[in-house]
Amino acid sequence: MIKTIEWTDEGVVMIDQRRLPSEELYPVFTTYDEVAVAIEEMVIRGAPAIGVAAAMGIALGAKQSAASTPDELESDFNQACDRIAKTRPTAVNLFWAVKRMGEVFRAVKQSGASIEAIQNRLIKEALNIHEEDIESNKRMGRYGAQLLPQDVTILTHCNAGALATAGYGTALGVVRAAVEAGKTVNVIADETRPFLQGARLTAWELAKDDIPVTLITDNMAGHFMKSGQINCVVVGADRIAANGDVANKIGTYMVALAAHANNIPFYVAAPLSTIDLELKSGDEIPIENRVITEVTHIRGQQISPDGIQVANPAFDVTPHRYIAAIITDAGVARAPYEESLKALFK
Ligand code: MRU
Repeated sequence: MIKTIEWTDEGVVMIDQRRLPSEELYPVFTTYDEVAVAIEEMVIRGAPAIGVAAAMGIALGAKQSAASTPDELESDFNQACDRIAKTRPTAVNLFWAVKRMGEVFRAVKQSGASIEAIQNRLIKEALNIHEEDIESNKRMGRYGAQLLPQDVTILTHCNAGALATAGYGTALGVVRAAVEAGKTVNVIADETRPFLQGARLTAWELAKDDIPVTLITDNMAGHFMKSGQINCVVVGADRIAANGDVANKIGTYMVALAAHANNIPFYVAAPLSTIDLELKSGDEIPIENRVITEVTHIRGQQISPDGIQVANPAFDVTPHRYIAAIITDAGVARAPYEESLKALFK
């Protein structure tokens, strides 16, 4: 199995996703600030994986604190949380993990535990988040696989696989579970400009697992749908609002529109930690804008004129009316999403 992220005595080890598929490198990040920079620079990416990295970064910050009282430790802990929370704004799993670590910190501190006991408990919580994510992906995969026909060609956008999680994947977890259930599965991965998560990461991890995958450019998806070569779309999510609107990698909205126009079911697979019931609709989801060189350059090579004006929003919002179902680790939600999503938390 691909090891996306791991806690070690030396620090947090992550596969460097910027270098895939040409190089498979596993650098170690030894401070919470290094983990924060790794999230910002996309060494690790994908909503659930960002959540795990955030928890491990915070645990690392607490472990390395020189505090001599629990109050001093709290101040160092808060500093690590604040730094990690400023890395990427869209994937809510990051804020979910920061909140969960904070709740654990306060509960253990209040119980009168020693500094060392608090530090160990935070490391344990980060490891729990890591482990639970793999289990949740497998559960989600089984729910999702049941929705697919016996012989299926699935289009996916971006990378919502093992690399985007602690392992197994959300959208690609559905793919893996369908394969494990004996279905005949073909995946069409679109390249996902500008960062090329589809071409570099989805194609790499599916090929590694011997799951048939065909790579296309983003502008080919409509053609493949219209010509009857795609049975369904399965994507991941970075944040899902209470009404079922879904923020995911830029380009997802266009894929959803094309699927809708061709009567192809469009499924979203995401754990409960990606659902943000505090936001009424997708209009409230903050959309990250990233550096323009992701658009003007491909792997270091400039492809556009000097000084050209560029926009680079990293995510878009797909309105809930285009979504056939949201597959979660607590079951499958269908419209009306206000009710079905809320019911998953009971
Ligand atoms: O910018 P990224 O690569 O972090 O964006 C990732 C996505 O949009 C994924 O589809 C999403 O996080 C789900 S990952 C299971």
